[in-house]
Amino acid sequence: MIKKNGNIFRLETENTTLILRADTAEYLYYGKKTEAAGDVTVLRGRPRRFVSCLGKDAEYSEQAVSVFNADGGFVSDFLFSKARILSEKPEIPGLPSSYGEGKTLELKYIDKTKLTLCLYYTVFEDGDVIAVSSRLFNGSKKDVRIRRLMSLRLDLCGTDYEIITFNGSWARERSKFSRAIGSGIFANESKKGASSHENNPFVMVRNDAGVYAFNLVYSGNHKELFESDVRFGTTRVFIGMNDYMFDWKLAPGDSFSSPEAVMCFAPDEDTMSLRMHAFVREHIVRGKWKKRERPVLVNNWEGTYFGFNEEKLLAMARSAADLGAELFVLDDGWFGRRDDSSSSLGDWCDYSEKLGGSLASLADKIRALGLSFGIWVEPEMISENSDLYRSHPNFAMKIPGREPFRQRNQLMLNLADERVQNYIVRTIGDVIARSGASYVKWDFNRAFTDCYGKGILPGEYYHRYMLGYYSVVSRLMKKFPFVLFEGCAGGGGRFDLGNMCYFPQFWTSDDTDARERTEIQAGSSYGYPQTVMGAHVSACPNHQTGNNTPLSARFNVACGGLLGYELDVTMFSDEERRAVSEQISFYKENRKLLQFGEHYRLEAENVRGFITVGKDRSEAVAVVNVVAYRPAMPVPVVRFKGLNASALYEVGLRGTDFRFVLSGDLLMNGNIPLDSVLRLMPRESGSIVSGMFIFRKVRS
Ligand code: DGJ
Repeated sequence: MIKKNGNIFRLETENTTLILRADTAEYLYYGKKTEAAGDVTVLRGRPRRFVSCLGKDAEYSEQAVSVFNADGGFVSDFLFSKARILSEKPEIPGLPSSYGEGKTLELKYIDKTKLTLCLYYTVFEDGDVIAVSSRLFNGSKKDVRIRRLMSLRLDLCGTDYEIITFNGSWARERSKFSRAIGSGIFANESKKGASSHENNPFVMVRNDAGVYAFNLVYSGNHKELFESDVRFGTTRVFIGMNDYMFDWKLAPGDSFSSPEAVMCFAPDEDTMSLRMHAFVREHIVRGKWKKRERPVLVNNWEGTYFGFNEEKLLAMARSAADLGAELFVLDDGWFGRRDDSSSSLGDWCDYSEKLGGSLASLADKIRALGLSFGIWVEPEMISENSDLYRSHPNFAMKIPGREPFRQRNQLMLNLADERVQNYIVRTIGDVIARSGASYVKWDFNRAFTDCYGKGILPGEYYHRYMLGYYSVVSRLMKKFPFVLFEGCAGGGGRFDLGNMCYFPQFWTSDDTDARERTEIQAGSSYGYPQTVMGAHVSACPNHQTGNNTPLSARFNVACGGLLGYELDVTMFSDEERRAVSEQISFYKENRKLLQFGEHYRLEAENVRGFITVGKDRSEAVAVVNVVAYRPAMPVPVVRFKGLNASALYEVGLRGTDFRFVLSGDLLMNGNIPLDSVLRLMPRESGSIVSGMFIFRKVRS
C-alpha cells in the first residue's frame, strides 16, 4: 500500500514501512511496520537523500548518479518535479524484473540541463519487499554520457552496521562473510561480466534494529557499495549495475533504465530468508514451472564426462528409469566433434557417430524407457575449432589484432550483435525442437575478457551484452513455454535474480561433495529458496574433494534442493540400488514439502542442516549433519525451527526405528541431542554424519 500526505509517502508492506519525503528526496524511516502518527518530518536531521549527484550540496560522498552533462560539466542538481502513484508497475525495457504487484510510486526530478531522473518504488506487500529502479531521460538537445546510475541509494542512520556478503569462487560459492562497516567504503562487486561465483549480489546489513537485505535483478556486472560517513553518522548503501568501464551515450530524447534492486527489512536473519524465499518464489520465478514439482533427474556428466556412446547412455537411462528417476539429462559432448573441451562449441549439430544416430532418435529411445529427455547447451560460447568459427570468426568476442584470452579453451560469442542473437535462437531452438527436450541446461563456463563489438562503444559493451542475452533467453523461453530451463554457469556463477526470472532452477555449484554442499546450500539459502537450487547425489570418492560420504548422507544433503543423481547409475551394487529406489520414492512422496515448504537453516556447534516445514505445520523434514565427527566427542545438539509450538509431533529418524513424541515448543527451544544420529547413521572417515528427521503432527 502507498499512502500520501502532501509530499510525504508511506510505503507499507505486511510487516515493514518506508517513509520518504519526495520534495527534499529524503528517507525518514525504513524498518518495522509503524502507524506513523504525528509529524514524521522530525525524523530529518542527517543527510539521507536518495537523489545524490554532484550538485550544489557539494557532497563529496559516493553518488548514485554521475553524468557528463549537456552543459559540458559533471554537476547535476536534480530538483523535485512531481510524484505519482501508478497502478501498473512500469516495465523496464529489455531487462527482467519482479512482477505480480502494481502499486508503484514514481518520483521525478529534473536538472536544469533538461535531464530527468525518475525513481520507481514498487511495494510487494506479501513478500515485505520494495523493488526500486531508476531511469534517466535526456530532454536536452545534446548527447550526455552516463557514468553511473545506481538502482537504489538508501541512507541508514548510524554507522554501527555489520555488512554480510556471500563470497567464494568456482566450486566454493556463497560462503557467508561479515565485517563491521567501521569507516570508509566497502564494495561487493563483480567485474567478470556475470554476477560471478565470487561475489553474489545478495547482501545484508545488520544492527540492533534488525536486518536489511538487498539484491539486484541483473546477471551482469554489479556493485553493492557501503559508505560509512562518520561525520554525519550515516551509512549509505548503493545497489546497482557496476560502473566499471561504464560510459553510456544517451542521445537527445532517449532514456536509460537501471536494473531493478530489491530491498527488505526483517527483525532477524531467519525471517529475512523466509521473506526473500517467498518473494523469489512468487514474484521472480515465473512460467509453467513456477509452482510445479520439479522432476528427479539423472545427469550423465560426472558419470561419463565426455566419454560416452549410445550404449552407455541407454544403459544409464535404463537404470535411471528402474530407480524411479523421471528425467535423463544428456550433458556436454553430444554435438559437433566434441570429445573434450577443445572443440565444437557453436556447432549445435548431432555428433551422430557418438550418439549411435541422431539426437532425436536417442531422445526417443530414452523416452521409450519412460523418462523425459533433457539436454545440455552452452549457447553463448564458441570454440575456435568449430565450423561456426571457421565460417563466422567475427561472431566471437575478441578485439581485432589482439590475441584473445582463452578460458577452458573457448571464446565467448558477441551477444551484443543481433546476428549472433538470431544464430543462437535459431540453432538452440532447433536443438530443442528436434530432440523434443522437455528440459534444457544452459551452461556458461568462462568470464568476459576481450570485450568488443564492431560499432559498440566500449563503455556500453557489458550492458549491451546483457540486453542481448536477455533478449535471446526470453525469445527462446517464449517459444518453448513448457520446457524446464535450468541455469548453470560452471555451477553457480550466474546465480542471481535476473536469471531466476527466466530459469526456474539453477545448478548451485560444481562442487557435489556433501560436506561442501552443506555450506554452499546454506549460504545460498540466505537470499534464495530451495526451489531454485539444483542438488545432486554424486559418486565417491567425490570428484572435487576426494571425500567419501555415505550414500544416505549424500541424499540427505541433496534433499535441501532439487534432487538429482549425477554419477554412473549402472555401477550401483544391489544394496545401493535398493537404497536409491527408496530415496527417490521417499523424495517423490515428500517432494511438495521439500521443494516448496518453508525452509530454515539449522545451525549449532558442529551441526549444520535445514528443516523444511509444510504450510499448515503438520509435517516437516529436517536434515542434521554433524560436520566434524570425533570419537568420544560431546554429543552435539540442535533446536528445530518453524514448527507449531503447541502441537505434538511424532519424530522419526529415517532408515531407523528411532522415534519419539515431543511438543513443538520443546523441539524448538529444548536442546535435542543427536546421539541417535551418531549411533545409528553410517559414517566414513572424515565425512559428515547425517540424519534425516521426519515430523508428523499427532495432536494440535
Ligand atoms: C560445467 C557445469 O557446471 C557441469 O555441470 C557440466 O555441465 C560441465 N560444465 C560440462 O562442460
